[in-house]
Amino acid sequence: MQKRKTIAITGASAGIGAAMARVCAARGYDLILIARREAPLAALAAELEAAHGIRAHVVTADLAEPDAARTLAAAVAERGLQVDGLVNNAGFSKTTGFLETDPEAQQAMIRVMLTVPVELSRLWLPGMKARGWGRVVNVASMAGFLQATGGDTLYGPIKSFLIKFSQGLWVENQGTGVNVSVVCPGYTYTEFHDVNGSREAVSAAYPKWMWLDAERVAREAWEAAEANRPRCIPGKRYQILSVVSKLLPDQMGLKTAASHARKLKRI
Ligand SMILES: NC(=O)c1ccc[n+]([C@@H]2O[C@H](COP(=O)([O-])OP(=O)(O)OC[C@H]3O[C@@H](n4cnc5c(N)ncnc54)[C@H](OP(=O)(O)O)[C@@H]3O)[C@@H](O)[C@H]2O)c1
Repeated sequence: MQKRKTIAITGASAGIGAAMARVCAARGYDLILIARREAPLAALAAELEAAHGIRAHVVTADLAEPDAARTLAAAVAERGLQVDGLVNNAGFSKTTGFLETDPEAQQAMIRVMLTVPVELSRLWLPGMKARGWGRVVNVASMAGFLQATGGDTLYGPIKSFLIKFSQGLWVENQGTGVNVSVVCPGYTYTEFHDVNGSREAVSAAYPKWMWLDAERVAREAWEAAEANRPRCIPGKRYQILSVVSKLLPDQMGLKTAASHARKLKRI
């Protein structure tokens, strides 16, 4: 019998990461579920093992810690697990403005959403390539496409990095059996806006039709990876926005982004 492939998912305790775990489990993949909170990971693992007959391993890790990627990879190796796919999904934002945000929190954003995805890719891609099969899904954001906005100053640039990084990996891995995709969701119902304290403001500012559900984002992202499509933007409205934003002259784009930040009371 062929061994099942194992997909490691960061930020699997909630939102898009948990939805990605459900999508992968339904397709028969074993899982390594990673986040800080053990209880939701354990509950999800039990649910998916019972529903789909797969193995779901729980590995708790704070990805904001220095050297988090190497520590995580060592913990995974110690359990004798092979990583065939990686979903770099863990993330959060701070909307308090550049100078008002604690430097430690800024460092954590950079580590969790930029350093760790790069380092985990560097650690686990060689094995995928050598075995001739791999999947990498990087969860970026529409914010990585759009003009920079104030308030959550670092978030957009970090996600822009992730988009370009994914594109480079996609190019380098053609013909190897390793598919790399980046998903760029717009507003999605998860814990994200509760964690950054902006739930009330974003709900008041943006109508229901602008919101995606995490299951759809996860399903479309995984389908893109299976089809070796380098990029996935869930939802026609966001596909159109990604094109329109590129056509705007810089200053007009920045003014539009600033009005968005004012609407959300971030500047
Ligand atoms: N929701 C949106 O509107 C939206 C839109 C575009 C892109 N995204 C991106 O989607 C990804 C997932 O976010 P989400 O919307 O699903 O948010 P979420 O529901 O808040 O989930 C975030 C996940 O990241 C994990 N995480 C956060 N900090 C961590 C750390 N230091 N170490 C380990 N895990 C950590 C959380 O787990 P623990 O708290 O248990 O550690 C949780 O599992 C993020 O990269 C986000 O930037 C979200």
